[in-house]
Amino acid sequence: MSNDIANLRKFVAPEIVFGVGARKTVANFARSFGARKILLVSDPGVVAAGWIDEVVQDLRMGGFEYELFTAVSPNPRAEEVMKGAELYRQQGCNLIVAVGGGSPMDCAKGIGIVATHNRHILEFEGVDTIEVAIPPLIFIPTTAGTSADVSQFAIISDQQEKMKISIVSKAVVPDVSLIDPETTLTMDAFLTACTGIDALVHAIEAFVSTGSGPLTDMHALDAIKLVNDNLVALVKDPTDLKLREQVMLGSMKAGLAFSNAILGAVHAMSHSLGGFLDLPHGMCNAMLLEHVIGFNFKSSEDKFRVVAETMGIDTRGMSNQMVHKRLQDRVIQLKHDVGLVEGLASSGVNLSDIPTLSAKAIRDPCILTNPRKSNKRDVEVVYEEAL
Ligand SMILES: [Fe+2]
Repeated sequence: MSNDIANLRKFVAPEIVFGVGARKTVANFARSFGARKILLVSDPGVVAAGWIDEVVQDLRMGGFEYELFTAVSPNPRAEEVMKGAELYRQQGCNLIVAVGGGSPMDCAKGIGIVATHNRHILEFEGVDTIEVAIPPLIFIPTTAGTSADVSQFAIISDQQEKMKISIVSKAVVPDVSLIDPETTLTMDAFLTACTGIDALVHAIEAFVSTGSGPLTDMHALDAIKLVNDNLVALVKDPTDLKLREQVMLGSMKAGLAFSNAILGAVHAMSHSLGGFLDLPHGMCNAMLLEHVIGFNFKSSEDKFRVVAETMGIDTRGMSNQMVHKRLQDRVIQLKHDVGLVEGLASSGVNLSDIPTLSAKAIRDPCILTNPRKSNKRDVEVVYEEAL
């Protein structure tokens, strides 16, 4: 066994309540943090689905004051974070509850950072840039994929630069995550597919990441299996609560894995793409996944063989080349079965956009843990293949 401390890995996670009804405990947790006034962060879709009314009622019954901030865009923007932080300060809030998908949760993380540092959110790009503890965060995710409710990532859109910035810090892991599969019943089949594929990508990238270790591998492999075995059936019947629970458990485990092992080139490239086109994050990942696997395969053949086996491929007697092909085919099949068949070109990307997209992707922190070292030209070639 190696004594090299460079190989040691830490594992950070929020306090988690998982299961149907978990969301109903929000007032109890708010009380345990000594909340007086709560900033409730969400987006118009989640409000329309009725989840905010329910949380508001629970907080009122608990005797808490609250302020609503529900103007968050599908890819949360720096200006929205700044507005939310202003509201938090003006109203004298001392706790943040976010209800929704990755966007309200990432926005809530940003609001927490700005509220305690009093600086612009874009100044916090990168790893470990947060100096002061942020206010308590309680998250209720309503999608199963982004895992912002368990991760140490916040992704914010910079509209001026048409790009997304990544903030990576233990400080943005929420204090409590109330993961309730019932809340995902309001997602349609398309959003279910996008977020489910995002979870699968989290799990695969975390498993082959240079930051992976035993504590993350077990969650990553469970997540790959749970998504692989249940997502297609769920997209066919989005009302099946048992399937919702399985995919959400997979998403949570993928989140625990990638929050600690970090990600890879799919996410570096899809952050760049999502900032450029404002497309759903899971869809961006889906367009890139098999191409990045193709690029990475040789650098991590044994691990990709385990991924293939976990996705139901019997690899006994197969050469690495054959496993490579079968794994890519399986990914393409899965995407097809959940209805994600668009490529980059049909989504509006031109060959001439690729140098700009690549320049941004190689500056993303996720590229650092990709199993194969990649320069700008490598990334360009992968984008070209995905056109
Ligand atoms: Fe993701």
